[in-house]
Amino acid sequence: MALFDDAYTADPHPVLARLRGSGPVHRVRSAAGIPFWLVTRWDEARQVLTDASLSKRQPVDQLPAPLRAALATQMLLRDPPDHTRLRRLVSAAFTGRRVQALEPEIVRITDRLLDGLATEAEPDLIGRFAVPLPFAVICELLGVPEEDRGPFRAWSDVIITGGSGPAGMAEAMAEIVAYFRDLIARKAARPAEDLLSALLDVLDDGDDLVGMALLLLVAGHETTANLIGNAVYLLSRWPDQRDRLRDDPDLLPALVEEVLRLASPAATSTYRVTTRPTTIGATTIPAGEQVLVSLLAVNRDPERFAAADTLDLERGDAGHLAFGHGVHFCLGAPLARLEARVALGRLLGRFPDLRPAVPAEDLRWRSGLLMHGLEALPVRLTGAT
Ligand code: HEM
Repeated sequence: MALFDDAYTADPHPVLARLRGSGPVHRVRSAAGIPFWLVTRWDEARQVLTDASLSKRQPVDQLPAPLRAALATQMLLRDPPDHTRLRRLVSAAFTGRRVQALEPEIVRITDRLLDGLATEAEPDLIGRFAVPLPFAVICELLGVPEEDRGPFRAWSDVIITGGSGPAGMAEAMAEIVAYFRDLIARKAARPAEDLLSALLDVLDDGDDLVGMALLLLVAGHETTANLIGNAVYLLSRWPDQRDRLRDDPDLLPALVEEVLRLASPAATSTYRVTTRPTTIGATTIPAGEQVLVSLLAVNRDPERFAAADTLDLERGDAGHLAFGHGVHFCLGAPLARLEARVALGRLLGRFPDLRPAVPAEDLRWRSGLLMHGLEALPVRLTGAT
């Protein structure tokens, strides 16, 4: 069946619930007609995400030559032992301490964006807050200087939204690869207290380094933006939980986990390919077939989560797979959680009456299979006066 049509974009959950109810794995087609297997239950998702016989390698041969090397070396597209080597090296640089050290800067960036929001009547929370925040944080993390951020933002927008078609995308990729090469040379000449400088110490191959910088930029941007936007959306749907949070701000971490579970920002970003016949439930998938886990579906599996479709800040049971599972478990999860807590805590603290300015049925969700987030979320910041 064709899955990713307009009805799915508007609300994927009824479609996914039907599929999940009828079995753990399904042969479906993307909007472009490409067939693949979709996993919709939690147990089978864990099986697929930990099965070493499923590979992450993706064909990059259609890409322009300068990009091929950089993309082929991203660890997200590699298998052990290559992946293990890269992951170990980058983990040594991208430490918990480095993430924690970013907190004051995240607070500063957040407050600056909130000042901007406060000047508008009905600001778009996605375009004015949820997207620029993780972008600024990644620039800070990597060490992209303030004066370079304009063009850097323009290329990364093209890469992340894919809005300019394949040619525009290839051009923006080439620009950004060239930019990273130049920036890396500058960091090599004058190391600073940033992740790129730290990565220079551990990754001696230039392509590995460019691939890693690109991966961090792309992986941590739209996902985190979706998490922030989806949180505000879900709170507007569950006003009782919004009140609970207002009474007890210590529930903020629980909110972040519930949003990750209920409206998983990386919807279906879990590409794998079978390297041998693989049995999932009662189905044997032949070798060489693409398999995707629907994080949206498995995180609402009623066999795993009681009242799975409900936002419940007292649930006390994370267990969601929104950051994946196994060796490719999201490297940026601690940073994403920190950003979301700071962003939502300060947003809701400053604007306690914040709510969408349009009815839920008028909100537009991004189409496509990989991500789950709003295109725009116009909000009113103050009470109904
Ligand atoms: C991997 C989700 C934020 C960096 C992943 C995977 C998921 C995910 C599902 C695994 C994909 C797979 O198994 O195929 C998310 C979500 C985020 C988020 C929902 C925000 C809410 C970030 C941030 C960064 C980041 C902020 C870094 C700045 C990475 C990297 C990987 C990854 C490097 C690849 C890990 C590997 O292959 O070993 N992410 N991510 N992510 N994520 Fe995130």
